[in-house]
Amino acid sequence: MPATPPAHDAITDNRLATDTKRLTQLFGDDAGLLPLWIAEPYVDLAPGVVVALQARAGTRWYGYETRPRSVIGSFWEWMASRHGWDGTALKTSVSPSVGTSIGILIEERTDPGDGVLLQPPVFTDFKPLITSANRTAVRNPLLLTDDGYRMDLDDLEAKAAEPATKMMILCNPHNPVGRVWTRDELADAAAICARHDVFVVADEIHADLALPPFRFTPFASIAGDSGVAWAATHGPIKTFGLAGVCDTLLVTGDDDISNLFRTRSSQLHLTRNNVFGMAAFEAGYRTGAEWLDQLLALIASNVVLLRDRLPPGIEIIEPEGTYLAWLDFRGLGMDVPELGRWLSESAHLALSPGHWFGRQGAGFARMTIATPPAQIEDAIDRLTDAADAIDR
Ligand SMILES: Cc1ncc(COP(=O)(O)O)c(C=O)c1O
Repeated sequence: MPATPPAHDAITDNRLATDTKRLTQLFGDDAGLLPLWIAEPYVDLAPGVVVALQARAGTRWYGYETRPRSVIGSFWEWMASRHGWDGTALKTSVSPSVGTSIGILIEERTDPGDGVLLQPPVFTDFKPLITSANRTAVRNPLLLTDDGYRMDLDDLEAKAAEPATKMMILCNPHNPVGRVWTRDELADAAAICARHDVFVVADEIHADLALPPFRFTPFASIAGDSGVAWAATHGPIKTFGLAGVCDTLLVTGDDDISNLFRTRSSQLHLTRNNVFGMAAFEAGYRTGAEWLDQLLALIASNVVLLRDRLPPGIEIIEPEGTYLAWLDFRGLGMDVPELGRWLSESAHLALSPGHWFGRQGAGFARMTIATPPAQIEDAIDRLTDAADAIDR
């Protein structure tokens, strides 16, 4: 492994748009589109991970393999050193994806017709996970205040009190609005859910992407005081850009929840180990700290670029965490179809339109900013040129 991780300035076109078919389906066939819509880092990945994958490929043996204890151990050592979180007494299960974990928990902890709380605008996968299981998505929309997004706790209390409401999906750090919920905010939400016997799934997959000085608070660290039932999702897929390789984790303090999850997961045979996934998982957590520090610095500097250089009518809601910038286009006065067309056809940018995250996202769009500054400057130039060309 190189002694110094590379500066985040190397990027190739294929890394920006590997899934060109999907890009065309969603945004049209403009070959000049700059795609910044998928939430993953568009930089050279952690060198220790690349070396580990190459080494694993070199063994020329890819059959059944037992997962060594060191894989989960690497996650907990990382959590202790980066977040001061000792979770070794908790139950940790492996799951192929965050979506799998949430899907199983919906099945196990709710019945058809029950309500599952969401805080839109929020990550697009949650709602289909709920509705495809014949449960109801119960919205507790975030409030956009002068100080940024806040939870609407009165509304949460009212919705949690409805007898059909049995679960809440709490996203921290929050995709797409970038909030890193404080200990007090999490404790307030936990207390409400405890009062009304609502199970909390804390999706903490962006935990490592809290941008200093903001700090990630594990739901586990406040859940105990409230008595709320909970589980949390974790793993290296966002931190190290390994969604195409690695498994994720489900963490809980409750033996029953862990047993339910493991039984279902074994029934569905979701437990086979991927040899590359295990190698990349452990290498990320054991060797990726310096690389991640550089990535966080890069994201922070891209936030400054956007803050300083976006044209009039477009503003960034500054993220406290994640590598996602939530851009506010409401100043341009366009409706949802107009804004979508304008972004792809005039600005030649493929961003995730805000309404994908719920109707509260109308007028916004999400841009991935874990990318070299030149890409962000290019995106800003495209937005500026397109804004200048608007016939007002
Ligand atoms: C908050 C959040 N949860 C889950 C996921 C996806 O996880 P998975 O692909 O493992 O289901 C993402 C991906 O962007 C995400 O942002």
